[in-house]
Amino acid sequence: MTESARFAGKVVMISGATGGFGGALARRFAQWGCRLSLTDLNQAELEVFAAELGTDCVIVAGDMSDSDTAARWTEHTVQRFGKIDIAINNAGMVTPFARLLDTDVLSAQRIFSVDAMGVFYAMREQLIQLEAQPRGDAVIVNISSVAGLVGAPGLGVYAAAKHAVIGLTKTAALEHARRGVRVNAVCPSFARTEMVANALDTDNADAEKHMVRGVPMARLAEIDEVVRVVCFACDPANSFMTGQSLAVDGGISAC
Ligand SMILES: NC(=O)c1ccc[n+]([C@@H]2O[C@H](COP(=O)([O-])OP(=O)(O)OC[C@H]3O[C@@H](n4cnc5c(N)ncnc54)[C@H](O)[C@@H]3O)[C@@H](O)[C@H]2O)c1
Repeated sequence: MTESARFAGKVVMISGATGGFGGALARRFAQWGCRLSLTDLNQAELEVFAAELGTDCVIVAGDMSDSDTAARWTEHTVQRFGKIDIAINNAGMVTPFARLLDTDVLSAQRIFSVDAMGVFYAMREQLIQLEAQPRGDAVIVNISSVAGLVGAPGLGVYAAAKHAVIGLTKTAALEHARRGVRVNAVCPSFARTEMVANALDTDNADAEKHMVRGVPMARLAEIDEVVRVVCFACDPANSFMTGQSLAVDGGISAC
């Protein structure tokens, strides 16, 4: 069976859906004939994007650091499609580089509330629904980071939040394994998305070189290189892998 046939008709939830990874994932799943439930901060951007995709699409705008967004997103998904097959918790943010001692409390709280609590809120709603629906081959994929696997100088609170995502992933995988729900995390290093473009200091021509200094493959990831691994994690054919953190990091975590 082809990849596209395995995914056709699946109900796929994606947060951060108008961003770099989220947008590319939504396009890929739409091409495969999936039905989509997309969320991000901006309603107008979601509407324009959903119209481009040409597939059956629910959109729910909201801030993932508010637990109500996760509740509304899941409720609208189930109202429209009756179930969830795949949920990709991808929304996230990063702040400019700063050592921990220079990190202000408000920005640390914001990072944690979006990148860690946001994933908790979303997974909690998704798992409640998955427990209520008939047993199937449902899967949750959380987008962590290589900063969820190793320390990240200058990105300490982001690294803590992304480590938290891995703790949530492993725990949910264990708690729901017997129901056949698979839960995995994907851990990219810097990829060429808007998040990284914004973090790159545009006045400094060496900024990209600096960013890839510690990457054994000595380059940024391309969006598609990350999307392929997320799709592998979601693939119904990948039926015995759960609780794992898949590094897509050009070798960083092997150092
Ligand atoms: N780009 C990278 O190099 C990289 C590396 C490792 C991990 N990641 C992770 O990948 C995920 C996607 O990032 P991306 O690179 O596509 O970035 P991006 O900035 O292109 O997309 C992130 C999306 O999340 C949305 N978002 C941000 N805060 C939100 C909030 N509070 N509520 C709802 N939506 C919110 C943004 O609007 C945006 O559309 C993030 O979790 C990020 O931490 C990215």
